Amino acid sequence: MFDVLEVRLGDRTVGAITALGGDRSIFTFDDGYAEDSQRPTLSLSFKSQTGGLIREHNSTQTRLLPFFSNLLPEGRLRAYLAERAGVKTSREFFLLWALGADLPGSVWVGSADGEKPPPGAGGAEEAVGQASKTSRAFRFSLAGVQLKFSALAAPKKGLTISVHGDGGDWIVKLPSAQYAGVSENEFSMMSLARAVGIDVPEIKLLSLDDIEGLPTDVGRLDGGVFAIKRFDRLETGERIHMEDFAQVFGLYPEDKYEKASYRSIAGVIWRETGEAGLVEFVRRLVFNALIGNADMHLKNWSLLYRDGVNATLAPAYDFVATQAYIPDDKAALKVVRSKRWADLSRDELVAMSRKAGLPEELVLRTAAETVAAFREVWSNQRIGLPLDQAATDVVETQLKIVPLAQI
Ligand SMILES: Nc1ncnc2c1ncn2[C@@H]1O[C@H](COP(=O)(O)OP(=O)(O)OP(=O)(O)O)[C@@H](O)[C@H]1O
Ligand SMILES: [Mg+2]
Repeated sequence: MFDVLEVRLGDRTVGAITALGGDRSIFTFDDGYAEDSQRPTLSLSFKSQTGGLIREHNSTQTRLLPFFSNLLPEGRLRAYLAERAGVKTSREFFLLWALGADLPGSVWVGSADGEKPPPGAGGAEEAVGQASKTSRAFRFSLAGVQLKFSALAAPKKGLTISVHGDGGDWIVKLPSAQYAGVSENEFSMMSLARAVGIDVPEIKLLSLDDIEGLPTDVGRLDGGVFAIKRFDRLETGERIHMEDFAQVFGLYPEDKYEKASYRSIAGVIWRETGEAGLVEFVRRLVFNALIGNADMHLKNWSLLYRDGVNATLAPAYDFVATQAYIPDDKAALKVVRSKRWADLSRDELVAMSRKAGLPEELVLRTAAETVAAFREVWSNQRIGLPLDQAATDVVETQLKIVPLAQI
């Protein structure tokens, strides 16, 4: 008997992941889905050059295909959720099985008969039986490294985390023990981004006391909580599909700083979403240069499928002036030739436009407008934001050293 996980998009079956033994598994599309010309989009990485569906996929060992691997958390969050589920972090088939009921976007993965993975089935011997005995398992997944939960608006002003962590339409990012003030930093940067005209979801800066149902095993916490409304969930509970650019390019999460560039992201956005998406992309690129964000990697950009089929650029998330913590003048990815924000010049944008076939004039005009809007917002609207000196200094430095900011 092989374990088979059904993969659904909304209420529609799109395929299955079958365990082949020896820790191998294989993903196959469902015939009905593959043959439907009106099918909803699972991922652009499954789209062939002629627009058809790429149906043949190799089996993988321990890991899943990049598309599925990217639905799982990384780092500390992954270790935390895997431990509670009684699954070994590296065995992705079992981890996805445990967390598959509430995944990013509208993907659902689970056993067709509702069976849960057997405790310890993922090879976490020390955890055998623990999850089922104590009902400590969470049944949700979010990407990224930082500890975070999906939460619902509470009757008063705060947010509530459900017993299994599922069903929420907000994301709550807990304060970081490593980087003091990161929630305040993110809240400030996202507020500035909105003032500049960038598409930013509703956000809140809360205290730990405002969060009901916070698990007690997350360690000692100190500082503010950053909360952001989910764009892949409606208040009705309906799910909107999304994918990040590691998924779009079929790359594993650990390649999120490599193997692609802002130029390649821009090319996809332009082809798939047209002018509206491209203008928004350029605003965000310039904005992140000006705030000294060295972490705009492939998983911090996503596409949203509002109608289920066609891509739009998802709203902004994870804007942090990271240089306040890690002095590093590099961007997460190359624009075209350089990874340094100090090389982000008009000339670099011209090169990006030519190589990716973008309308050069629109790119340059949008960049200049964003710089002007940013300078205005930075002078007049930063008062009142919970910005510390380190973050303020980073922005002041970027305004001096980013060549584009000099126009
Ligand atoms: N408002 C939102 N709506 C829906 N999904 C979101 C939203 N904000 C973030 N996400 C998803 O959650 C993931 C994690 O969020 P975020 O990038 O803010 O966390 P992080 O742990 O700081 O990430 P990183 O590992 O890049 O530091 C994102 O990669 C994205 O898939
Ligand atoms: Mg992120």
